[in-house]
Amino acid sequence: MIEVSGLVKRHGALEVLRGIDLRVGRGEVAVVVGPSGSGKSTFLRCLNGLERFQGGAVVVDGLPLDASLADRRREAVLRQIRTRVGMVFQSFNLFPHRTVLQNVTEGPIHVLGVDREEAERRAVALLDRVGLADRILARPTQLSGGQQQRVAIARALAMEPRAILFDEPTSALDPRMTGEVLAVMTDLAREGQTMIVVTHAMSFARRVADVVHVFDQGVVVESGTPEEVLENPSQEATRRFLTETVAA
Ligand SMILES: Nc1ncnc2c1ncn2[C@@H]1O[C@H](COP(=O)(O)OP(=O)(O)OP(=O)(O)O)[C@@H](O)[C@H]1O
Ligand SMILES: [Mg+2]
Repeated sequence: MIEVSGLVKRHGALEVLRGIDLRVGRGEVAVVVGPSGSGKSTFLRCLNGLERFQGGAVVVDGLPLDASLADRRREAVLRQIRTRVGMVFQSFNLFPHRTVLQNVTEGPIHVLGVDREEAERRAVALLDRVGLADRILARPTQLSGGQQQRVAIARALAMEPRAILFDEPTSALDPRMTGEVLAVMTDLAREGQTMIVVTHAMSFARRVADVVHVFDQGVVVESGTPEEVLENPSQEATRRFLTETVAA
């Protein structure tokens, strides 16, 4: 579903991603962990074109994106990738002046061309699935952080994405709200949704990940099952990260 080879991203002289090779299969849940500044967010942003990169290639659902694409071609590919890849951020990024329902119907109506009635019917079903059927007319500011993040997940799902990228979706949440959001994500994973999840929630990684990738200073230092990587790390950088995460 997602194939990344030799991905290089620079900010001026700083090489933030230094040749990332990583594949995510259909229906796979990939968890990305690593210390702050190791390039996890940058990596996700390169996958859906929020960030340009200088070397290597990304293929998402058969759509190739590489550093050398001319601007017009690149824009055309990006438009397609963005309708197929959803993104959920730490800070929710909902439209504050729209209702929960409108937040979820916006993309299907304006990007996919679904008619309003159908978009609303689907949105209500999705909001029910994330436990918010009774809040469809609320504004985001009237919701808890955990509820807002579940709206953001419903909004991503409304686009019927082939894959969803999560960037620390629970980092801004207290433990109870974190549990609510992780429960929704666990359901999605069990239903076969392809997901890449950047998270510090190690219990989620242990229970749900098919593969864990460890980033350190812009490279993937280790990849494997949660048992391999989290219980029996082979790399010093992984051991250091795990020790610091447990200590934090
Ligand atoms: N716009 C930018 N200009 C210059 N440097 C940047 C820019 N954005 C990110 N960086 C640098 O790129 C590196 C990777 O950042 P990134 O946000 O991808 O890390 P991260 O692994 O997501 O960290 P965190 O766990 O703190 O979210 C960092 O050194 C950061 O300072
Ligand atoms: Mg980040």
